[in-house]
Amino acid sequence: MEIPEIETPRLRLRGWREGDVERMAAIYSDPEVVRYLRPLDLEGTRKQLLGFEYQWQERGFGLWAVEERTSGRLIGRIGLFHHADWTASQHDAEVGWTLARSSWGRGLGTEGGAAALRYGFETKRMQRIISIAHRENLASQRVMEKLGLHREGETSWRGIPVAWYVISGQDWSRRED
Ligand SMILES: CC(C)(COP(=O)(O)OP(=O)(O)OC[C@H]1O[C@@H](n2cnc3c(N)ncnc32)[C@H](O)[C@@H]1OP(=O)(O)O)[C@@H](O)C(=O)NCCC(=O)NCCS
Repeated sequence: MEIPEIETPRLRLRGWREGDVERMAAIYSDPEVVRYLRPLDLEGTRKQLLGFEYQWQERGFGLWAVEERTSGRLIGRIGLFHHADWTASQHDAEVGWTLARSSWGRGLGTEGGAAALRYGFETKRMQRIISIAHRENLASQRVMEKLGLHREGETSWRGIPVAWYVISGQDWSRRED
């Protein structure tokens, strides 16, 4: 399938292009950005983007490349991912976000996250979307709260202490009322 393009007031969520690998690797080269993430070099970034593309083809959802509409510049990735190794609960997908540091603090993570949730619930008819963050990653947890996710608890995942949040399709539709 072709990855669907979604526009929000300030963002364009679009499919991945060849030239995006270098820009995403540059975003990941900032230690602040990867403070709570697995660091990726250029080759690791290339593999990750191929994995995103693969999941789009396999499941019809995934992570989008995120552009700021005014500049057309790639500023990160936002979207949905199913983790086969997440066993703490049933989930249709996890919603996640990573933006270049220069784009933080303007509500863009929340704006893009809302578009991803809308796609999951309204286009893909998902029932349960989770979000997982390092226990100390409070900015990401704040985005989850602003999007209406509820904290479920803490666990260890891939050897990391994480907090995880949930939103059901019912919560989402009530939120839209
Ligand atoms: C998480 C991330 C996408 C948030 O993007 P963003 O566009 O800055 O998010 P928003 O502006 O929509 O919201 C951030 C919220 O977190 C709050 N916040 C930021 N830093 C915080 C901190 N250290 N402690 C507590 N809250 C914090 C902000 O004040 C804001 O809340 P508010 O609107 O109530 O003031 C961005 O920080 C990022 O890319 N981080 C690095 C990658 C990452 O860790 N991704 C998540 C992996 S689980």
